[in-house]
Amino acid sequence: MILVTGATGKVGSAVVEELQSIGQPFKAMVRSKDKAEALNQSGVETVIADFTNPESCRQALSNIDKVFLLAPPAINMAELEKNFIDACKTTGVKHIVNISAVGTSKDSSLNLGQWHYQTEEYLTQSGIPYTIIRPHSFMQNILANIGSVKAQSTIYSSLADAAVPLVDARDVGAVAARVLTEDGHAGRIYTITGGAKVTQNDVAAGLGNTIGKDVKYIPVPDEAAHQAMTGMGLPDWLADDLVGMAAMHRAGHGTEIDATGEKILGRPMRTINDFIQDHAFLFS
Ligand SMILES: NC(=O)c1ccc[n+]([C@@H]2O[C@H](COP(=O)([O-])OP(=O)(O)OC[C@H]3O[C@@H](n4cnc5c(N)ncnc54)[C@H](OP(=O)(O)O)[C@@H]3O)[C@@H](O)[C@H]2O)c1
Repeated sequence: MILVTGATGKVGSAVVEELQSIGQPFKAMVRSKDKAEALNQSGVETVIADFTNPESCRQALSNIDKVFLLAPPAINMAELEKNFIDACKTTGVKHIVNISAVGTSKDSSLNLGQWHYQTEEYLTQSGIPYTIIRPHSFMQNILANIGSVKAQSTIYSSLADAAVPLVDARDVGAVAARVLTEDGHAGRIYTITGGAKVTQNDVAAGLGNTIGKDVKYIPVPDEAAHQAMTGMGLPDWLADDLVGMAAMHRAGHGTEIDATGEKILGRPMRTINDFIQDHAFLFS
């Protein structure tokens, strides 16, 4: 039996959908009764637990062989994941598939890079067979522009002309589902990117063509981007990371395309136009 954490999120919901489509038995771990009921209605078996409550996690892990482990971006994410890995050890889990991020390393200048690294290290030394998935930035981040596209036909960011192999979170979930249900992935670390590099001008043009508006991309300086993010309620450390990531991409770092996702899925990765077509209704 597989346990899917983060099951209501962008990647976890795709894992749920993929496992359901192949008839693979699994349980989705959720934090509330309401979310459990919503999933139950679409035929998904659920268990209620919270990373901050170790006893609830131990119970959720009862009779579980494999785990899809995803923590939300948070200051204590490494600690929450380490606690969960400890619970997996206690209950005899045989494989953990963990969502990390591209560029994760001991020397990362980003908070998220450091925290994902701490989890990766803990997991690889836990003795539990593991697979680590390091996705690139999600196309779903483009949804943060819904308000400005609706109000001003504009998208803003500090990426300037950076070309980045954005990946659709649904493809990341599909890769995770394959890893959970096929042999041969234990001990592997997979970088998952989209199949093409995308600029902000590409995004603006694609959105404009699809919704029938002249959508423009306006580059903004790092400081203004940081201020806008914290103004929208993002914590300081996350705004630091997002601005830092954009600066890295502007400098051409961490922008390589990796074909691993396509190889695992046996099909091309979703393109930016696929993503825009599927989400255009949200922008108009
Ligand atoms: N965004 C990107 O571009 C990107 C790129 C590479 C890697 N990543 C990594 O991907 C992960 C985020 O994935 P995502 O975008 O799919 O996340 P998401 O959409 O933000 O969903 C987070 C999930 O975690 C659950 N959750 C939150 N707090 C929890 C807790 N205390 N206990 C149990 N579950 C909890 C949420 O449940 P509720 O519904 O109850 O809130 C939700 O299902 C992060 O580790 C991030 O660093 C992101």
